Amino acid sequence: MPMFNGRFVQRLVVLTGAGVSAESGVPTFRDPDGLWEQYDPMDLATPEAFRRDPALIYRFYNSRRARLAGVEPNAAHLALARLQREFAGDVFLVTQNVDDLHERAGSPQVCHMHGELLASLCGACGNKRPTDQPFDGASACPACASRGSLRPDVVWFGEIPYFMDEIEARLADCDLFIAVGTSGLVYPAAGFVRTARASGATAVEVNLEPSDTASLFHLQRRGPATEQLPALVAELLS
Ligand code: APR
Repeated sequence: MPMFNGRFVQRLVVLTGAGVSAESGVPTFRDPDGLWEQYDPMDLATPEAFRRDPALIYRFYNSRRARLAGVEPNAAHLALARLQREFAGDVFLVTQNVDDLHERAGSPQVCHMHGELLASLCGACGNKRPTDQPFDGASACPACASRGSLRPDVVWFGEIPYFMDEIEARLADCDLFIAVGTSGLVYPAAGFVRTARASGATAVEVNLEPSDTASLFHLQRRGPATEQLPALVAELLS
């Protein structure tokens, strides 16, 4: 059984945030060049904003979706995919990110708690459909054909993240929790470290700088995810 930090570890939970995709060229939210430094999230990432100005929201998410075609997974995504393939135990990857870079890096399992840019959701029939194309208020739902009811399948502020039951169960049962590239400012993800620690897990933070919840982690691996994560994965697989 693998050892880490002097303990046997068998069940891992890895949480990623925007920092894991930063070195691929996908903007984060709260870094100096982050999305929420340029726009007010209350104007772009709430159900109220969508009702108020759907055309603006369609444009914002269509442009973010289109930009995904021009970026590639980085060494951090690849390291996590390697960990999931080779680790002699269980690895549950949950991401706050809505990009598809974990999948494109080869991760066999990815839990998108905040949804996915590359999917549409119909407000009329609930149908979710993968798409890499732009859509707007004139687009028809591919399932029920109603128009004006499609939205990005992204969890907005004030909405309930996806898969919380499974995530909580994994956190309650893990012995190693790794948070990569997240500021620890948005709940419920920011509280995952507390749940993991309550179940006796070792908690490791991989970040350029201390997150808002840094004091709750036993270990810090300070630096770019593309350097720190491959090193951490090599340690776990050795
Ligand atoms: N390597 C490691 N960490 C990095 C890197 C990097 N190359 N670049 C940035 N970071 C870290 C920053 O230090 C910061 O702690 O990534 C974190 C990015 O924080 P945020 O921009 O707040 O992103 P995130 O934590 O994912 O935001 C959570 O907020 O707006 C909502 O739904 C949105 O999922 C998002 C949630």
